[in-house]
Amino acid sequence: MLYRRLGNSELNVSEIGLGSWLTYGVSVERDRANACVRRAFDLGINFFDTANMYGKGAAESLLGELLSPYRREDYILATKVFHPMSKTDFGLSREQIHKQIDASLKRLKTDYVDLYQCHRYDHDTPLEETMEALSEVVASGKARHIGFSEWSPRRIRAADAFRDQIRFVSSQPQYSMLYRKCEREVFAMCRRRGIGQIVWSPLAQGVLTGKYAPGTRPPEDSRAANRKIDRFTRKPVLQAVQKLLPIAERLSLSMPQLALAWVLDKKTVSSAIIGASRPEQIEQNAAAVGVELDSGTLAEIDDVLDGLVRK
Ligand SMILES: NC(=O)c1ccc[n+]([C@@H]2O[C@H](COP(=O)([O-])OP(=O)(O)OC[C@H]3O[C@@H](n4cnc5c(N)ncnc54)[C@H](OP(=O)(O)O)[C@@H]3O)[C@@H](O)[C@H]2O)c1
Repeated sequence: MLYRRLGNSELNVSEIGLGSWLTYGVSVERDRANACVRRAFDLGINFFDTANMYGKGAAESLLGELLSPYRREDYILATKVFHPMSKTDFGLSREQIHKQIDASLKRLKTDYVDLYQCHRYDHDTPLEETMEALSEVVASGKARHIGFSEWSPRRIRAADAFRDQIRFVSSQPQYSMLYRKCEREVFAMCRRRGIGQIVWSPLAQGVLTGKYAPGTRPPEDSRAANRKIDRFTRKPVLQAVQKLLPIAERLSLSMPQLALAWVLDKKTVSSAIIGASRPEQIEQNAAAVGVELDSGTLAEIDDVLDGLVRK
């Protein structure tokens, strides 16, 4: 495993991080989730991402239990706040931030998270109130650093203008070969501000593993067999992904390794947060670390995906 510094923080996160959306505490049973966490540790993965709303607290609860045998200083734990936990509990007000961090810590069985992230922007709470509350959470020692997910450039700039408040060290955007919106503005403006990228769905929810052949039913037990994974399963996208397979083969890589090496090629990315329903997937994906892609290969990938990438 290799590690990269997360923005201006002192956190050294593994280039592959392990997330828990739709998996642990939700669709992946406990023993298999435990095997995934153990394999992640064995492979040197030290970065675990979750959110209060994943399984309405169930992901945090299971992760808290599965991480409890490990020394707290040996892993970097990130969670998030914003999405509804009940009809009255949502958003980024001072009251909610304090209430939700306490609930998350209890479920995660720890005194602090390394990274507390705003899952989205809250248009109903003054930004100053949110930044003050996040500063209080860090001052209390319940979180070491703060981050945001999918905030617009305008909001990132506005948060940065509060000079007396705690600064963000991380941004969590969707980013993959197929989804590159954050390349437009967010990457550069974050780099200037010492904010690192920890990107989600780097495999486009599994589509970039090449396992979804166009015109056939998704493999049983795969995510697409159980839920709609929107635009990524359109036929032209699946056909293009099949055309990437020979490129991966030529480089002696599996398709997920090629997709993750592509993401990690961007040095502004601190970690690619994968999901995994089986430990073997983590093993295969972790082998993308250290793979260098030359400019010819990057151009070839762009040609194959021409017209299909969300930019
Ligand atoms: N900030 C946000 O708003 C936001 C949103 C979404 C996610 N996230 C974070 O990002 C994490 C990753 O998102 P994601 O789960 O969509 O990521 P992903 O890595 O793009 O997709 C993960 C899924 O692909 C399949 N897969 C992974 N490796 C594979 C392999 N080697 N071979 C075959 N299939 C493989 C597995 O699903 P199956 O085996 O079930 O097919 C796995 O659960 C989440 O857990 C969460 O922590 C954040």
